[in-house]
Amino acid sequence: MEVETGCHSEQMDRRIRDHPILGPLDSVREFPILVDGHTLIAREGEPILATLWAHGIRVTGRTPKRSRPRSLFCGIGHCSDCLVTVDGHPNVPSCTTPVRRGMQVETGEAVDAAPSL
Ligand code: FES
Repeated sequence: MEVETGCHSEQMDRRIRDHPILGPLDSVREFPILVDGHTLIAREGEPILATLWAHGIRVTGRTPKRSRPRSLFCGIGHCSDCLVTVDGHPNVPSCTTPVRRGMQVETGEAVDAAPSL
């Protein structure tokens, strides 16, 4: 049985088709990336955050004092709410950084490099 949702199946996969900074993302070439030790399938050209969201991962980090979840806020690389660690480099904005083949991404506590007060 099919459920009518009013959305095209293309829209249902939660992938970004046109990014305000990265531009149109027409590629359907896919490759694996490693996120917190798990293999996820990424689409060439899409930002890291799009890959995370496509796989149901919403939290990219936590606040240092209260451990509140952080994720997509501005979506254009200005707010720092979506920072992750990429290939050992901390504080990479996942909303504007395109995925690369073989990339290793870490979310969570590792993304906050701010000293505790
Ligand atoms: S969501 Fe604001 S920098 Fe990524």
